[in-house]
Amino acid sequence: MLSFIRSKYREIQKSPVLIFIFFIFRNSYSFIDDTVKKVLGKKPTLYYVELCVAEHCNLNCKGCVFFSNIVDGSVFYDLDQYKADMTRLRGLFGNIRNITLLGGEPLLNDKLPEFIGESRRIFPKAKIRVVTNGLLCKKMSDELINAFKENDALLHITLYKPLFDNIEDIKDILTASGVNFLVGTPATRFMKTFNENGNSDVKKAFDRCLRKRCSYLSDGTISVCSFPVLVKWFDRQFGMTVSQSLTGNSINIYDENLDGFKLKKKLLKPISACKYCSEPEWFDWEQGNNEPKIEDYCVTARAGTGRTK
Ligand SMILES: C[S@@+](CC[C@H](N)C(=O)[O-])C[C@H]1O[C@@H](n2cnc3c(N)ncnc32)[C@H](O)[C@@H]1O
Ligand code: SF4
Ligand code: SF4
Repeated sequence: MLSFIRSKYREIQKSPVLIFIFFIFRNSYSFIDDTVKKVLGKKPTLYYVELCVAEHCNLNCKGCVFFSNIVDGSVFYDLDQYKADMTRLRGLFGNIRNITLLGGEPLLNDKLPEFIGESRRIFPKAKIRVVTNGLLCKKMSDELINAFKENDALLHITLYKPLFDNIEDIKDILTASGVNFLVGTPATRFMKTFNENGNSDVKKAFDRCLRKRCSYLSDGTISVCSFPVLVKWFDRQFGMTVSQSLTGNSINIYDENLDGFKLKKKLLKPISACKYCSEPEWFDWEQGNNEPKIEDYCVTARAGTGRTK
């Protein structure tokens, strides 16, 4: 009986039509997928994880949601820690479908080839993507180019104004190098959602959130999104204490009581940090100056009322 279910399940996974139908009913699919894997004694699949290979950046976008433009100095993910963290996730999950290496600016990390290689070694079936602002694409080393090619990783360029005049050259170079890449549509609009008062309705904020399935890995922890981890840079810049109220928003992946099914469930639920997220407010993308202001990030801190450092 079990082998019959297993063979049917494999057929379903190979059929594009069935996968399409399942995609429409994604939540039911996820439920069925998890249930079947549980019955078969298999580990679940995690659909997405992202991490900052470098938290800092070489482009100062006003209101960066990762606070990368106000990071203090250079902050890299330690490669050995990354290997350990991904190995632990491999113990919890049969596969991670999408692994996104970003930042900050990932190309600032000289060990990016190793990060790509380790991601592929530990999760052979994952889709691996590196999201970059493209400023360093012309200077990619042979080692990095080979890492993309050998590990079937995608280079995703976010197209900002400073790249508009160069993008055709970059495309030519990447095409000649054989790297699989894509260039996004011009990123001319940014949003801010941060409600510094922390009085948003948690459920409503989570329901409307565009980042709620962007599980974020950082130094032995995983969280629903990057906000609870990276808001420390906002606190440091503006003398605030938001991160202090968010302990427990990041899950220790080494907790012995954890299994992949439990962890998946936790990553799909609102966290207390959601009280700091409001309806998005959109604004024209611009490069920041050397004086970031709290209202660059916060919807409630209107110009003139927010504290600046
Ligand atoms: C934080 S960036 C990191 C990777 C790389 N530095 C880049 O910009 O592509 C990842 C994505 O977040 C988006 N992003 C950052 N801040 C944003 C904001 N305030 N509003 C909308 N998108 C934002 C960027 O456009 C980019 O596609
Ligand atoms: S390039 Fe990316 S990480 Fe850097 S400041 Fe802009 S959005 Fe943030
Ligand atoms: S804290 Fe909650 S609402 Fe805010 S970005 Fe993260 S998941 Fe979305």
